[in-house]
Amino acid sequence: VTKGEMPIDPLRTVAKEMKFLTGNIRKLLGSGHPSLDRAAKYYTQAEGKHMRPLIVLLMSRATTLCPKETRRTSSSVSDLPSGGIDTALSPLNILADVNPSSSPSPLTEAAPTTPADADAQILPSQRRLAEITELIHTASLLHDDVIDHSVSRRGSPSANLEFGNKMAVLAGDFLLGRASVALARLRNAEVIELLATVIANLVEGEFMQLKNTAQDERRPKWSEETMTYYLQKTYLKTASLISKSCRAAAILGGADAASVDAAYLYGKNLGLAFQLVDDLLDYTRSEAELGKPAGADLELGLATAPLLFAWETMPELGALVGRKFEREGDVARARELVLQSDGIEQTRALAKEYSDKAIDAISGFPESEAKDGLVEMAIKALQRQK
Ligand code: FPP
Ligand code: MG
Ligand code: MG
Repeated sequence: VTKGEMPIDPLRTVAKEMKFLTGNIRKLLGSGHPSLDRAAKYYTQAEGKHMRPLIVLLMSRATTLCPKETRRTSSSVSDLPSGGIDTALSPLNILADVNPSSSPSPLTEAAPTTPADADAQILPSQRRLAEITELIHTASLLHDDVIDHSVSRRGSPSANLEFGNKMAVLAGDFLLGRASVALARLRNAEVIELLATVIANLVEGEFMQLKNTAQDERRPKWSEETMTYYLQKTYLKTASLISKSCRAAAILGGADAASVDAAYLYGKNLGLAFQLVDDLLDYTRSEAELGKPAGADLELGLATAPLLFAWETMPELGALVGRKFEREGDVARARELVLQSDGIEQTRALAKEYSDKAIDAISGFPESEAKDGLVEMAIKALQRQK
């Protein structure tokens, strides 16, 4: 994806907005209590990748050029399109029906498309959304590191190690509180509902990961359902935040229903690709390369995509999965089998499929630098090494 001979730098299009991101987030996190202030801001010190806000900002800019929704944005819950959020959440339907594209067909006569414009404005509300998205993500990392007994994050000691579990959990709660305040101030009920659903989804994903109800825990057998369960968990744990934030960005910009759905689909597929790559890097990279412990998933008893693909042809893995790699030598054996199998390649291929779908989803967007940036992000998700 090149313009002339120059490779697209997705960051360039939104560099100005990204420069203020961390400062603004730190302002949202100020507390009169010095140790809470310190714990809450801790993960904003290390240079994170800021992948989510970057995508939200690119999506904001890219959808500015899309046709506008002519209907006034609903501001009361009863006006919400019924498909706009995951209500009656049945995990097993998540991948099938979570795409809120079932929302009523747009009542629009398509408004005239604005010509591609590099200066297309990002609204203050969209900038705030990018910050809220990063806050929710960071809150989930604070909690995740407690749950995973993690000792490092972004190349430094993790917050739970630095401050202890209690303070790390409370700091995460504080981030969610401040994110909620900022969200409420956007005064858009549909966007509030989307992001509140994300918070619930994160917990649901984490629960699915803790409790593999798709398995007979004593004698698990590989089945098609194994993979479906994993992908549903992955949607909730990772893709929900990106997809619903993309959707919210398009809504805040007043984009029409088709563009809002396209934004959502882009985020969903990118999120799935992103987590698949995360799960394979856990097998292929070192702690020094990742800035967090490598090989952590097996140590935590987790069977992710590379192992699930390996398991299909190596039934021996079933017993190890069943006891969560707890016995002496289990982790090493599982690792060895996965590396002998084509699990890593299959995971990479599946990630590529999702990345392609993400690119496909926004193919109808008017040409712009921001759109190129989104395409580049989907390609980069596959190439990243950490
Ligand atoms: C990182 O996964 C963790 C997540 C993507 C989400 C974790 C969600 C919770 C702990 C639920 C409750 C939290 C909130 C704030 C609602 P990972 O452990 O696979 O990745 P890592 O290697 O970066 O630790
Ligand atoms: Mg973790
Ligand atoms: Mg985790």
